[in-house]
Amino acid sequence: MYVCLCKGVSDKEIRRSVESGARSWREVQRETRCGTQCGKCACMGKDITREAIKEE
Ligand code: FES
Repeated sequence: MYVCLCKGVSDKEIRRSVESGARSWREVQRETRCGTQCGKCACMGKDITREAIKEE
């Protein structure tokens, strides 16, 4: 499922970013570019990041 339409980032890509070492929403943003344009996806992106970190 796409989380970020502006940058074409899926929830899988966010999870992959956490798996490969991202430890905060900011790091996920830096790596995937999710939420760096209009910002509408930021809430969902943050939630998925938080969940993925918890599951690590
Ligand atoms: Fe993610 Fe616009 S939908 S920055």
